[in-house]
Amino acid sequence: MLSLFTLSSSVSPDGHLVIGGCDAVSLASLYGTPLYVFDEGHIREKCREFKKEFGKYYQNTNVAYASKACLNRSIAKIMDQEGMELDVVSGGELAIALSAGFPAERIYFHGNNKSEAEIMFALESGIGHIVADNITELEMLDRLSCRADYRPDVFIRITPGVDAHTHHHITTGHSGSKFGVYLEEAPEAIRIAQKLEGVNLVGLHCHLGSQLHETSPYTDALEILLKFSKKMHDEEGFILREISLGGGFGVNYTLEDSALPVENYATAISGLMILLCERLNLPHPKLIIEPGRAIVGPAGVALYRAGMIKQAKRYEKFVAIDGGMADNIRPALYDARYAVATAGKMLDEPDQKVTIAGKFCESGDILSRDVWLPSVETGDILAVPVAGAYCLPMASNYNGALKPAVVMVGGGKSRLVRRRETYSDLTSLDIEDGA
Ligand SMILES: Cc1ncc(COP(=O)(O)O)c(C=O)c1O
Repeated sequence: MLSLFTLSSSVSPDGHLVIGGCDAVSLASLYGTPLYVFDEGHIREKCREFKKEFGKYYQNTNVAYASKACLNRSIAKIMDQEGMELDVVSGGELAIALSAGFPAERIYFHGNNKSEAEIMFALESGIGHIVADNITELEMLDRLSCRADYRPDVFIRITPGVDAHTHHHITTGHSGSKFGVYLEEAPEAIRIAQKLEGVNLVGLHCHLGSQLHETSPYTDALEILLKFSKKMHDEEGFILREISLGGGFGVNYTLEDSALPVENYATAISGLMILLCERLNLPHPKLIIEPGRAIVGPAGVALYRAGMIKQAKRYEKFVAIDGGMADNIRPALYDARYAVATAGKMLDEPDQKVTIAGKFCESGDILSRDVWLPSVETGDILAVPVAGAYCLPMASNYNGALKPAVVMVGGGKSRLVRRRETYSDLTSLDIEDGA
């Protein structure tokens, strides 16, 4: 079970979970619950691992952290310090990154329906890359780049028609996806982009889905895009300078999961890239990968306090926590599964199967079903590993929930990087009677 927690996690002699040298039960008392705890060393280690493994086999690789997985100013600063590039998918994410001082030239702007205002904001900020999702966007980008007199590098996002074998809500590279230009329409997109004065087309992008556990979707997509680039080179004079295969590198949420090591992706993708570029007589393009979940997911732990405990007649035993779908909607949204531990009883034998229920007014607000725990009492701290990705960014104020506090831990120290919301935050945007 400890293997699911962050790299620096351990268990103290008195059976407490320790993250980054900090006692999890004490963190919960100090900052309150629900609390999201990030192991800073773990985040940095993952950035370095992606850079090292891909760099080893294909030096000309840029690793861009997909900030949709989780972004705040502290994470943006860590990414900057680690020399990462950054993906954003909205003007809002761009604003957070810029406010943390992340250099605009190392940012890639994605999104399937960017507004004029968002594109203008990106151009005026001096963004490095824009990933155009469709022909309409290419034309809008052309107009706006000419107006702003600034031409960022542009990718066209292609939907290569690859099935990534993951939950249908997080698969994006197949032929029915709302994202990207379908392969059949891609020659037209390239022809148009090459004619547009305001569009500096440098490459192709794809993203296949999230929480993938195989290398084949990446290698299939790479082959499709390289062969397509060769055809476009011969027919349209297109030169593929950069290629992005997106993110999606899976992680283990439970002990039954079997995510691949980063090295497997690095060897499979770079090996094929080198082989095919030689075979097709294409210059080796810069490779971009965009891991999100794999960088921050296992680096985060959510801490909750147990409240109501009840045995439903002929059904399961419920343990209710002081959070749930408002801070982690993933189980309700796509059947995500989570392991759960009792942070103050890590050495006790699990002896009962329970269902961890959230506190929100939906029967579907169940964080985890059928987890084995040592006897839980009201007031115990429950720790959920691998909570660093796609929980906080999807958090809501449903039922008037206050979004949780976030702390960074490392070397036995903790620091608050985002305060818990207060009741006054809930009304701070309301305008009295519309006056
Ligand atoms: C374009 C793009 N890049 C990268 C990612 C990151 O994916 P993951 O967090 O699974 O690595 C996503 C996630 O959906 C994405 O849409």
